[in-house]
Amino acid sequence: MELEVRRLAPDDLPRLRQFWVEHWGADFMVAHGEIYRPEQLQGFVIEEDSEWIGLVTFIIKDHEMEVTSLDSLRAGKGIGTTLIDKVLEEARAKECQRLFLITTNDNLNALGFYQRRGFELSKLYRGAVNESRKVKPGIPLIGERNIPLRDEIELEMML
Ligand SMILES: CC(C)(COP(=O)(O)OP(=O)(O)OC[C@H]1O[C@@H](n2cnc3c(N)ncnc32)[C@H](O)[C@@H]1OP(=O)(O)O)[C@@H](O)C(=O)NCCC(=O)NCCS
Repeated sequence: MELEVRRLAPDDLPRLRQFWVEHWGADFMVAHGEIYRPEQLQGFVIEEDSEWIGLVTFIIKDHEMEVTSLDSLRAGKGIGTTLIDKVLEEARAKECQRLFLITTNDNLNALGFYQRRGFELSKLYRGAVNESRKVKPGIPLIGERNIPLRDEIELEMML
């Protein structure tokens, strides 16, 4: 399947908010105590007909790129890989020294996915999800595979 990636445009903001509400329970993200809103972010999307089937968002600060969300709605078709390759290309073009992201302790799928693509575990924020839940009460207590959802794990790739 040929995957076409398009950069998010300002017009996409309402749809991005809606996508996050549907897939992450609110129109903002909380990571390591910081709140990220769609209007602060850049991103890439993959569409099928006009449906968004892949989305990655990111922010660049102090020569570092943080991936703030990654979603694929069609598992195992290369969508996640294509989007990570795209942000990596962007990070290099913008001369970032580090690419990093946060995932949660229950997300074994994502922990494997990122490490297979060259990311390394770099930080553990113990109990950070419990803190995030105070500003985003929709975050469940129990995450994937029945694992208590408590901690944030940072993964990084030095560029
Ligand atoms: C993590 C996530 C983004 C992966 O997306 P995906 O589209 O399934 O990823 P891919 O299809 O690129 O890769 C998944 C597997 O399918 C395989 N695959 C199948 N067909 C493929 C193809 N045509 N091209 C490339 N890979 C293919 C890959 O080899 C890969 O296996 P591997 O990791 O053992 O190498 C997705 O599971 C997801 O959205 N999860 C929910 C949200 C989430 O957890 N986000 C990340 C937390 S921040």
